[in-house]
Parts: sequence; structure tokens; C-alpha cells
Amino acid sequence: MESLESRDMEQQNKYISVRDLRKKYKRKRQKDLQVLDSINFEISRGEFVCIVGGSGCGKSTLLRLMSGLDPDYEGQVIIDHELVKKTDKRRGFVYQEHRLFPWFTVEKNIGFVMNDKDQEAKRRKISEVLELVGLKGFENAYPRELSGGMAQRVNIARALVNEPEILFLDEPFGALDALTRIQLQKELLTIRKKQKSTMLLVTHDIEEAVYLADRVIVLANRPAKILDIVEIHLPEIRDRSSEVFQKIRRNIYKYFESKDEKEE
Ligand SMILES: Nc1ncnc2c1ncn2[C@@H]1O[C@H](COP(=O)(O)OP(=O)(O)OP(=O)(O)O)[C@@H](O)[C@H]1O
Ligand SMILES: [Mg+2]
Repeated sequence: MESLESRDMEQQNKYISVRDLRKKYKRKRQKDLQVLDSINFEISRGEFVCIVGGSGCGKSTLLRLMSGLDPDYEGQVIIDHELVKKTDKRRGFVYQEHRLFPWFTVEKNIGFVMNDKDQEAKRRKISEVLELVGLKGFENAYPRELSGGMAQRVNIARALVNEPEILFLDEPFGALDALTRIQLQKELLTIRKKQKSTMLLVTHDIEEAVYLADRVIVLANRPAKILDIVEIHLPEIRDRSSEVFQKIRRNIYKYFESKDEKEE
């Protein structure tokens, strides 16, 4: 009895709690589409959690609900004891595509999301965050003058500039070539160490998840349910070619091998 109570207490103290989360999209002239079905998990402050799953299974939907972008869901998303129903400046979001305004400079693109009145302090914060993502000195560049990797760095800088407690990343490196991707994954770990944000990253790339995460949530196909939550006990700096890394990757990959047979 006592242990049950203490477990209950521990659950309440979790930073993020997703409880019996379900999502149905209402569609015209078609029956409703059930996308998420009874999703339950918890995340501690400062954790790096990756969510993997096949295309269209509901990963972006899950992230949108958790970040407050879509309040229309059943069940609960609780962050820091509050039910999430709207976006919050303490939370940053990075999308797959960079979504920068082409007519704004890098500085203006980042400044756009800031509320600072003091222009000098604002400029200083922007240059600090640009340094953090390896783009010092690019304040006056326009998006068309940046490579895909650089534009995505600006996107990350913009999400970081208000020092979010939680960073939601939806396939942030999906549009990049393999080498840039590896580089940015490495940089993301450095950023995480400096900023100490809680990170929630969606990817279809299992290797990326094993490289970055403390835990990997594996989602089944639509309606998405949790197949497994894999704890990654690897050193901070990970060797992708190591036996143990490849073993974890293979074990997660197995969940998707016979996916075709299960599809509707
Ligand atoms: N606004 C919407 N209205 C109706 N259906 C939607 C809406 N948004 C998403 N869906 C459907 O919900 C399902 C899940 O979409 P979602 O974007 O969450 O998948 P995903 O796992 O992020 O896919 P991908 O890996 O391709 O990005 C898809 O079948 C999609 O067509
Ligand atoms: Mg998606």
C-alpha cells in the first residue's frame, strides 16, 4: 500500500506526464481518423527523449498536442502540474523545414519571436544564440544566402533565444544531407549541455534517436500506440559503429521490419 502511494507521488512529480492521450481528426465526408490511441509516458526535467515511428503514424500530431499547438485532444498532457492547452513562451518548437521569413535578415528572423524592449540586450542575446549554433557574424545575412544546414541552425537559434525550458523538435534534420545531419546532431548535444533544456525530438531515423536520446519511445502505426520505451545506456559521446550501439539500433529496427503486413 505504502509503495503504491509513493509511486503515485513520484508520478505526480514528473515534469511531463502524458496520460491516456487520444486524438481523432474530424474529416469532411469521411469517417473520423483515430491517430493516437491511449498514449502514456512521463518525462523528467532535463531528459532527452526521441520519438520514432513510421510515416503518418502520428508523431507530429503527438508533438503538436504536447506543445499546445493543438488543444483538441482527449486524455491529459500535463507539464509542470498544468494541463497543456495552448502554446507557451517557455517552450520552443523547431520544424522540419526552416520556416524563416525570406525578406528578413537572420537577426530579424530571430528577433521576431522576442519581446525584449531593450534593443541592445536583444542584439546581444541574438548574437549569443547565433554563436551557440555556430553562426557568429551571420546577423545580416538573408535566408537565401544560407545553406540548408545553416538555415536550420538559425531555426534552432530562434527556438532557443527565449531560453525555453522545453524544446520540441519535429524531424529537425530530415531535409539535410547525411553529413550535415551528423554534424548538427553533434551540435544539438552541445547545445543541450549548455542550455539544460528538456528535449523532445521526433524522427524516423532510428540511428539518430539512439545517438541523441536518453530514452526512445517507439510508436506503432496508426492509430499510434507505444510499442516500447527503450532506455539508452550509452556514454554521453556515442560511437555509432560500436557493437553495443548497433545492437540497440537493430533491436528498435525490429519493430518496423514486418510493418507492411500489419498495414491496413
Ligand atoms: N489536420 C488534419 N486533419 C486530418 N487528418 C490529419 C491532420 N493532420 C494530420 N492528419 C493525419 O493524421 C495522420 C498522422 O499525421 P502526422 O502528421 O502526425 O504523422 P507523422 O507521424 O508526423 O508523419 P511523417 O513521418 O510523415 O511526418 C496522417 O494520416 C495524417 O494524414
Ligand atoms: Mg511528421
